Amino acid sequence: MTSNTYLPGANYILPRNEKEFERLNFQHKYLTKAACDGRLVFDKSIKFAEKCSVLDSGTGTGIWAIDLANGMSDSVEIHASDISGDNFVPNPPSNVHFTLASVTSLPAEWSNKFDFVNQRLLVAALLASEWPKALAEIYRVVKPGGAIQLMEADFRFPTPETPVQVQVRDLLWKSFESLGLDMTISGNLPTMLKDAGFVDIVDEIRRAPLGKTWGEIGMQGTISVAGGLRNACGSMMKAGVVGSNEDYESLIDRLEEEWDVHGHNYLCHVVCARKPS
Ligand SMILES: C[S@@+](CC[C@H](N)C(=O)[O-])C[C@H]1O[C@@H](n2cnc3c(N)ncnc32)[C@H](O)[C@@H]1O
Repeated sequence: MTSNTYLPGANYILPRNEKEFERLNFQHKYLTKAACDGRLVFDKSIKFAEKCSVLDSGTGTGIWAIDLANGMSDSVEIHASDISGDNFVPNPPSNVHFTLASVTSLPAEWSNKFDFVNQRLLVAALLASEWPKALAEIYRVVKPGGAIQLMEADFRFPTPETPVQVQVRDLLWKSFESLGLDMTISGNLPTMLKDAGFVDIVDEIRRAPLGKTWGEIGMQGTISVAGGLRNACGSMMKAGVVGSNEDYESLIDRLEEEWDVHGHNYLCHVVCARKPS
């Protein structure tokens, strides 16, 4: 790719393979519990009426959409879009429809279509320059009066700041910068949503646990987050911040040991908003 070629999704740091498919599905359960109190839709006031339309943007395997479909009437039409279909679950429920689309360019016929849009964990996928366009597209496809929910992790402020944790955080920071990604996005979402036209913006900040000190949920956090870091090795090498696969694997081994001893956590933003009626 030459420097002036623009390909949406080209700098996504994770691969699309069986290991990552399993990890995303596992992480879905962890995040739902750790950051959303076990709910797929954080805002308890939101109820889905018969025949309403929902979009899961940047859906990955489609697990959020499928989980939602399993808990409600099949008259609810659920769309799940992603730039790549390589991780889509085969044979989803009949009311879940997969679409290949970048969130920066959603289908023209989706204007004002959705009662609810969910988007989770695009921090490692969208270039800093793509975020305003992505939020404008989400705004376009939500019905007037409809709602959205964005969930993004913030890896800038892990606690406690132990040596290996700080080293990994700094490596991530450098790789994001080198790839054009924006590690600060979660904290900027409320302002950016306001600029995009959304109202009633609520930014709920949770601390997601990592390490066995926290019990079962912390161990699930380790599998989810350390697994993601391990699967990102190729991109970290591409960004030039990691010397070899072996060095990186041993760094993540030591990170997991720190989590188990100290009980770490990182910030997770769940940002809810509405399009004015
Ligand atoms: C970390 S995964 C999260 C998947 C899912 N939202 C979840 O929480 O399980 C990020 C997803 O964003 C997708 N992606 C990357 N760039 C995208 C773009 N420009 N538009 C839509 N999806 C994109 C990737 O293909 C990947 O499936």
